[in-house]
Amino acid sequence: MPLLPDLPRIQNAVELLDGPASLSELEANFRDISRLNRYFGGSWVTRSHLVRLLGERRGGSVTVLDVGSGGADIPVRLVRWARRRGLALRVIAVDRDRRILDVARRRAAAYPEISFVQADGLSLPVRGGGVDAAISSLTLHHLEPDAAPGLLAEMGRTSRLGFVVNDLMRSRLAYVLVWLTTRLFAWNRMSRHDGPLSVLRAYSASEIRSLAERAGVSPVRIVRHPLWLRLAVVGGPR
Ligand SMILES: C[S@@+](CC[C@H](N)C(=O)[O-])C[C@H]1O[C@@H](n2cnc3c(N)ncnc32)[C@H](O)[C@@H]1O
Repeated sequence: MPLLPDLPRIQNAVELLDGPASLSELEANFRDISRLNRYFGGSWVTRSHLVRLLGERRGGSVTVLDVGSGGADIPVRLVRWARRRGLALRVIAVDRDRRILDVARRRAAAYPEISFVQADGLSLPVRGGGVDAAISSLTLHHLEPDAAPGLLAEMGRTSRLGFVVNDLMRSRLAYVLVWLTTRLFAWNRMSRHDGPLSVLRAYSASEIRSLAERAGVSPVRIVRHPLWLRLAVVGGPR
């Protein structure tokens, strides 16, 4: 029997990122998330699963849809990675928030391979199988259980080869480590508030399995990356 019961998911909490925020605060927050993705494995988790999904597609070009793209941090890293290997990669970065897209456009100005679209992840303006793969990072936990299956369903519908959802693990250890990291690095108010709260809003593996079932994208492969406090959900081709 476990010493402590599982940490319950906090429902209907509001992160500062979900509310009104100044432009400078948004920019600072996405700089922080970028560091987190870089030094704490977030980008690597998405890329490693994406590369497996895409396989050895060295000819032709590949199109990836990033849902809830935020500061376009992961698209930029993917494009840099592809450039180094001489691969033709195009990323469509989708976010529902116009101001966040403006921040992302500035951050990714040197990467014409990335295009930006304002849309809701629950209703993507992309035809079925219209992209090779769909990815999403640190976004699923923003959606409550009534909406989250919609995101998975849309990622499954739009992607030809499959999708990768990457989010935080929900555990006491993850909460303490994220709380400490955001304090130690003296990040901005939004990151300090939203980081630990995101852990408490994240879905467990069994919750994700039931979301995937409701979304009609089962079976999914769920891979834990405890070192990076991340959980990856990989869906195959439809
Ligand atoms: C914490 S940020 C993650 C940013 C980025 N994916 C990363 O890992 O660096 C979450 C983003 O998801 C976006 N978002 C939340 N719900 C969304 C929805 N239903 N459709 C599209 N974007 C959404 C938010 O606007 C925000 O930019």
